[in-house]
Amino acid sequence: MPEASDQQLIKAAIDASRHAYIPYSNYRVGAALLTAGGAIYGGCNIESVSFTPTVCAERTALFKAVSVGQREFKAIAVVTRDAGSPCGVCRQMMYEFAPDLRVILADLDGNSRLVTTLRELLPHGFGPAHLDENKS
Ligand code: THU
Repeated sequence: MPEASDQQLIKAAIDASRHAYIPYSNYRVGAALLTAGGAIYGGCNIESVSFTPTVCAERTALFKAVSVGQREFKAIAVVTRDAGSPCGVCRQMMYEFAPDLRVILADLDGNSRLVTTLRELLPHGFGPAHLDENKS
């Protein structure tokens, strides 16, 4: 499978954002996660009237992918009206599987605003290796 370009990932994230369930914040988020094998999983934010169960677009995409057996990821595109950055909870969850993930932040019109890495967004992160007794 040929590697998806940043623009293809951004487009997939915009497509996913159309399904955002956002009656409380009206803040639309879409994400598109690229696996090592070239598959793309989209996700949107899904809100709850009691607020705390709300799930971000990034974790929706990640959980969709992991729940069908995917574990290796190369990149994620996230789109919002202001090219907003992933929250701390999503950074931590993505770090679990892909500390070197490429992160593309774009707006809902498809303009790429920042290309960075998860290690940049979560420096000195706490990852699975910290619980490995054989490592210090
Ligand atoms: N949100 C995301 O989907 N991803 C983020 O990284 C930041 C926040 C959502 C959660 C909520 O539905 C709305 O944006 C406002 O916080």
